[in-house]
Amino acid sequence: MREWDPRSASDQEIRSLVETLNEVLAADLPDDPPWQDVQVREYLAETMPGQRRISWVAEDDRLPEGESTVFGHVTLLLLGDIGVLEVLVHPQLRRRGLGQQLVAVAVRRAYLEGFSSIGVEAIGDTPAIAFYEALGFEREYVETRSVLNLSSVDWSALSAMANGISAGYRVEYHPGGPPEALLESYAQAKLEGQDGDDNDLDLRPSSSDPQRLRDSLDTLHRRGLKPYIVLAIHEATGVVAGLTELVVPAQHPERADQYDTIVVREHRGYGIDRAIKARMLLELRTAEPGLREVQTWNAQHSESMLKVNAELGFQSDRDWYEYIADVAQLVQRLEPTN
Ligand SMILES: CC(C)(COP(=O)(O)OP(=O)(O)OC[C@H]1O[C@@H](n2cnc3c(N)ncnc32)[C@H](O)[C@@H]1OP(=O)(O)O)[C@@H](O)C(=O)NCCC(=O)NCCS
Repeated sequence: MREWDPRSASDQEIRSLVETLNEVLAADLPDDPPWQDVQVREYLAETMPGQRRISWVAEDDRLPEGESTVFGHVTLLLLGDIGVLEVLVHPQLRRRGLGQQLVAVAVRRAYLEGFSSIGVEAIGDTPAIAFYEALGFEREYVETRSVLNLSSVDWSALSAMANGISAGYRVEYHPGGPPEALLESYAQAKLEGQDGDDNDLDLRPSSSDPQRLRDSLDTLHRRGLKPYIVLAIHEATGVVAGLTELVVPAQHPERADQYDTIVVREHRGYGIDRAIKARMLLELRTAEPGLREVQTWNAQHSESMLKVNAELGFQSDRDWYEYIADVAQLVQRLEPTN
């Protein structure tokens, strides 16, 4: 096992990591699309300003460095006040303590860097749940992932939904990101739209000031994650009343990720959520002809959003958990006993 920098890694190592990731997906999430080796190095290397990502790989040490097979990988993303882990082990090499060793090395570093808590996303009905619970992580938050298969969409019904917004609002489509002139209002909408859901560890970035938003968009582009934005503008004031963000990753362009959808409180009840999401799907049909599915994550209590997603044809798929652990306790638990 060794610390590993994707920036200087060989092409063979990146390829090998993608192969292992695809074996993991085939074993644990067989309906998810496999990754392509496109901008994977950038995906792993690039972070938001002020964040750091440290990685380690487990490989066959009989082969020269750079030529061997990567069969385990861990990354530690250091955010402001929390470290976020991602761990994977090749399905054929599981239950030999490798996962635990990978976590141990990352947690030791988090401890040395002065972090007191560490979070991780674990997917329901996969071995990761038993793994993190065995290590003493505690379940903090749950969301449900839903997937929309575009082949099941009734496009004429969708057009009607896209047009079903109340008078006084205009819908705008912005591939690549919101225009500079609207960034301030966009950031304000994100701030006001937050539901004050304190339980969410916020492992996924959300940006609610204009500079952070610029940085976030720039980081997405650098990581090969192409953002698409649809906005509802309140015509009387020109402010952003609602927004929906979707990202098409270069690594699996057939399945897009839905990011935030927000309708500012005073503009709720005017059909904005439904109209902006429908417009997004209509635009993607031409902008991304290779796209087959969209996945989204919702808290189980966000009923109105779940209702709109169901109308659009999203089918709930799996529970998605956030786990958290105290770094000092974990270090102690994972210290070799001999
Ligand atoms: C979770 C994961 C990292 C575990 O790796 P591993 O090398 O098998 O883990 P370890 O051998 O160190 O297991 C440590 C302990 O966790 C628990 N555990 C791990 N897998 C388990 C399983 N399938 N069932 C029950 N307990 C399990 C056990 O207590 C185990 O100790 P034991 O084997 O002595 O009983 C691995 O299954 C994996 O890569 N999963 C996919 C990760 C992921 O979410 N990827 C992103 C989406 S594809």
